Amino acid sequence: MDSPDSDRAALDRLLRGFIVSRLLRTAAELHLADRVPAEGTTTVAALAEEAGVQPGQLRRVLRVLASAGVFALTAGDEVAHSAMSRLLRSDAPNSLHHAARFWTARGSWRAWEEAEAALTGGVPHEAAWGMGRFAWLRAHPEEARIFDAMMANFPDNRHAAVAASYDFAAVRVICDVGGGNGAALRHILARFEGPRGILLDLPDVLAAIPADQLLDGRIEPRPGSFLDAVPAGADLYLVVRVLHDWGDEDCRRILRNIHAAAEAGSRLLVVEQLLDPDPSRSASTSCLVDAQMMVMFGEARERSAEEFAGLLSEAGFALRRVLPTGSPVSILEAEAVLAQSSTIGSGATKSPSVQPR
Ligand SMILES: C[S@@+](CC[C@H](N)C(=O)[O-])C[C@H]1O[C@@H](n2cnc3c(N)ncnc32)[C@H](O)[C@@H]1O
Repeated sequence: MDSPDSDRAALDRLLRGFIVSRLLRTAAELHLADRVPAEGTTTVAALAEEAGVQPGQLRRVLRVLASAGVFALTAGDEVAHSAMSRLLRSDAPNSLHHAARFWTARGSWRAWEEAEAALTGGVPHEAAWGMGRFAWLRAHPEEARIFDAMMANFPDNRHAAVAASYDFAAVRVICDVGGGNGAALRHILARFEGPRGILLDLPDVLAAIPADQLLDGRIEPRPGSFLDAVPAGADLYLVVRVLHDWGDEDCRRILRNIHAAAEAGSRLLVVEQLLDPDPSRSASTSCLVDAQMMVMFGEARERSAEEFAGLLSEAGFALRRVLPTGSPVSILEAEAVLAQSSTIGSGATKSPSVQPR
């Protein structure tokens, strides 16, 4: 028999890890973490009744999760929180409730069944569903809203970290390009009184934002596609975790559209988790997100600072600084340096002459 920490046992846990991931989604959908008291205990029977499920089967689900350190379950069928299950409460700061619902949600789950399609030039999500990921989300609003909430509450807590790591005090207007439900702007505007925000995202994403999340008009939603155009009039453009959803050609197109909208002297902040070019030093979270991008989008991927510098340069921006944050993401601060109105949106190559703006 293998010891619990043998290589065989460790590999076995990896092989069956999907069972834990999938049942975490069940727990989140039943709001178990919200139903277990913050202090003290409840019983499996009481939880089952509240959630409208069978107690015997719920005990089996909880036993798996407790064996992984999520919730504590006693022989007397009492259920209490563990440190990890508290993070699944929907009112926890930067709650992982949404992530638990997202990773194995139907759209992603079925795309992963086709993962090998990526290795022969296909896009697994398209092989599974016959359409691209963002188109699928438009047709499945429930999963789209889970995605929006998960991005706003991503485990990396990047929105709070970006607001705390960069000085936005002198900025007049921030345009968050592909800003989801506005979490980054809400964090920044809560910390800095001066700026107001323009939020560009797809129409259904913006329409789902409750009015009180728009900070009394300080955040102005602008529905549209960044593949077509980006609103003018901002002195700082923010692109958080957007470029990793796209292949190089689309990234250049998005960046050129920002360049076309930007006034002279505008800044661009690209916020991404940077891939270390040395695979032996890659953060595991970075590799996991990279694989998710491959399965959902094909050519989309995590990139190194050097790769971002290249894309920025091809779109007319110069990378000035790379700033760490208190989260796995970094801020790449860039400045528009090329005049290139003739190449906007075309995916064309770099302008030959460098003209300071
Ligand atoms: C990975 S999420 C990042 C969201 C947000 N910036 C964050 O970090 O939480 C990508 C965002 O791009 C948006 N998006 C996708 N295609 C778009 C398009 N063509 N135009 C505008 N937004 C788009 C999605 O709706 C989503 O909100």
